[in-house]
Amino acid sequence: MRTMTGTTCLVTGASSGIGKETALRLAALGATVILAARDAARGEAARAEIQEREPRARVEVMTADLSSLAQVRELAAQVRARHDRLDALVNNAGVLSPRQPLTADGLEMTFATNHLGPFLLTSLLRELLERGAAARVVTVASAVHKQVRAIPWDDLAGGGRTERAGQGQAYPLSKLANILFTAELARRLSGTGVTANCLHPGFVRTSLGRDVTGVAGAIVPLILRLRPGPVTGARTPVYLASSPEVAGVTGGYFVKCRPAQPSALARDGQAAARMWALSEDLTGLDAGR
Ligand SMILES: NC(=O)c1ccc[n+]([C@@H]2O[C@H](COP(=O)([O-])OP(=O)(O)OC[C@H]3O[C@@H](n4cnc5c(N)ncnc54)[C@H](OP(=O)(O)O)[C@@H]3O)[C@@H](O)[C@H]2O)c1
Repeated sequence: MRTMTGTTCLVTGASSGIGKETALRLAALGATVILAARDAARGEAARAEIQEREPRARVEVMTADLSSLAQVRELAAQVRARHDRLDALVNNAGVLSPRQPLTADGLEMTFATNHLGPFLLTSLLRELLERGAAARVVTVASAVHKQVRAIPWDDLAGGGRTERAGQGQAYPLSKLANILFTAELARRLSGTGVTANCLHPGFVRTSLGRDVTGVAGAIVPLILRLRPGPVTGARTPVYLASSPEVAGVTGGYFVKCRPAQPSALARDGQAAARMWALSEDLTGLDAGR
């Protein structure tokens, strides 16, 4: 790993699981780490734990619910007000089976939290990333994106709940969107020195399945109990954010710190461009709002 001393990294979803471990590792490498947390108390608890485990860690907490476009804008404004550059942005926050179906903006919760929030945040922080030292955008996707056979374009913000897409597609769709976002972002960042990569962290024991209900709700915790913990899940995001081995590498999908091939749909350049345009529209970015 490269030393991260003098760098500033932002990790979303840093209050638990893979995000907390990623933040800890980056802080241990010397970075100043901004922990973005949905809940202020949980963010502070993560900061205290990281500082206890790594006494020299330089960490600060910022609070935002990434499902809210207004709160994403406030978070970006706060980061810009307190920092003049960003060297790594780890888009890690994610939800599998939210309790609320819709956000305050009327968007499907999983798509908004897992894709539109990071899309908007990254776009609003682009200038800060371009001022960083060969900054890196790292987005935590998932191998479950392979479950998506077709993108329900007319119903994406509704979470793919159309008959054609079937039920339960919201999470895989949001993770496919993470990969398409990364591909298009890498293309758009070409020549800036900023790279964009995404990854599957492995199936690891975290709180991710806590709100799953029904039969799956009984099975998921049993399966996850047998899986490795968040330390393992943090390896690939930390690698992509810090390793000299991937300096200049962009537009990739990684598993176990190695390049991997996502689904054919995830490699579709036209779908990536269309997802970008739709995301600009849904977040109001295209209107400069
Ligand atoms: N665990 C796995 O096997 C696995 C596999 C593939 C991909 N992933 C991906 O890994 C990432 C991290 O998940 P995890 O497994 O570490 O699960 P986790 O322990 O549940 O962590 C998820 C994090 O995201 C935050 N979050 C959720 N909704 C949010 C919102 N609306 N606004 C801001 N933050 C929000 C959570 O905050 P709170 O603490 O407030 O809940 C938490 O910090 C996710 O993107 C997930 O899709 C996980």
